[in-house]
Amino acid sequence: MKINNFNSNEKILRYTNKIDYFLNSHKTLIVTELDLTNKCNHLCPGCCGNNENNAELSKNQVEIVVENLKNMDNKGVILSGGGEPTISPHFEYAIRLIKNAGMNIGLNSHGMNLDDAKCELIATNLEYFRISLDAGSPEMYLKIHGMKPQHFQKTLDNIEKFAKLKQKIGSKISFGVGFLTSKLTECDMENFVKIVKERGADFAQFRPFTGDTLDISDKLESLKSTYEDENFKIVASYQKYKEMQNIENRGYTKCHGMFFSTVISADFKVWACLHFRQSERHFLGDLREQSLESIWRGARIREVYNNINCHECPILCRNDSFNKTLDKLSLDIVNSEFL
Ligand SMILES: C[S@@+](CC[C@H](N)C(=O)[O-])C[C@H]1O[C@@H](n2cnc3c(N)ncnc32)[C@H](O)[C@@H]1O
Repeated sequence: MKINNFNSNEKILRYTNKIDYFLNSHKTLIVTELDLTNKCNHLCPGCCGNNENNAELSKNQVEIVVENLKNMDNKGVILSGGGEPTISPHFEYAIRLIKNAGMNIGLNSHGMNLDDAKCELIATNLEYFRISLDAGSPEMYLKIHGMKPQHFQKTLDNIEKFAKLKQKIGSKISFGVGFLTSKLTECDMENFVKIVKERGADFAQFRPFTGDTLDISDKLESLKSTYEDENFKIVASYQKYKEMQNIENRGYTKCHGMFFSTVISADFKVWACLHFRQSERHFLGDLREQSLESIWRGARIREVYNNINCHECPILCRNDSFNKTLDKLSLDIVNSEFL
């Protein structure tokens, strides 16, 4: 006769595959932020990227990264930085390789160095393209990107050029322009929306500067009601802005998300968090010495996981929302088999 012993502490040991996925972390990877280069020709004073070592992935390293990501069954690759991905000599090669490996690609770029060939490459191969403008005037552009009025103008022209090409070739890419919010930039929000909409982007996106707590929800509502239409949307992490009132309580103490979302920097190293590139405590491994698979199976990743103190992390970080969800994995659940 079989009688339930209610010994969940032992039952759980039957699910070694589940524990392996979560704790040993094999093939948990879903999204990877990939820095092709640390070089950048913008001068953003508050840049959260890391270009201190000017490193750049070689063609062979790009090949190894893609092979590694494929082996991990990674789904999405965000080309970002670090530096400016469009000035990497292997920008096109990397896109073609990642695409051929069956992964979807997003791109964050300052958008100043686009030419016709790059526009076409992006429009035909990527899922999303976001230009970081972060200003609605040349004056604000100088403050946030450290760049001159002619660079602001060139970027606006490129936004228009890309929007036109997208329409001409019927590309389904989601094309938007980003704006980082803070007390300093708040005054440019409306002008930013206007100029982005006029140039034909699909969306304007607002995000807070890392660690900033200015709640712009009311302003967003008013901008949405004035400027949104069927061809133009204003997007933002509304959840993030709402949660600014309650940032004391993250709702979790461990960064579970680091197993699902990672960063490969332009010096061929892997980090637990995009906010902590080049931080020893967040270093997972060097791809010169180990594959992603062996990093994910190894002891170091769990050591980092155990040592990260989420109280020291930026508020509302990239992994924040799914950390909250993943934290529920450790809840005591009665009769979980009866879904
Ligand atoms: C560091 S940039 C590198 C990629 C590319 N050069 C660009 O301009 O998008 C990556 C993203 O980080 C954002 N960023 C830069 N500094 C930031 C900060 N202090 N807080 C939050 N985001 C920041 C930029 O707006 C951009 O979307």
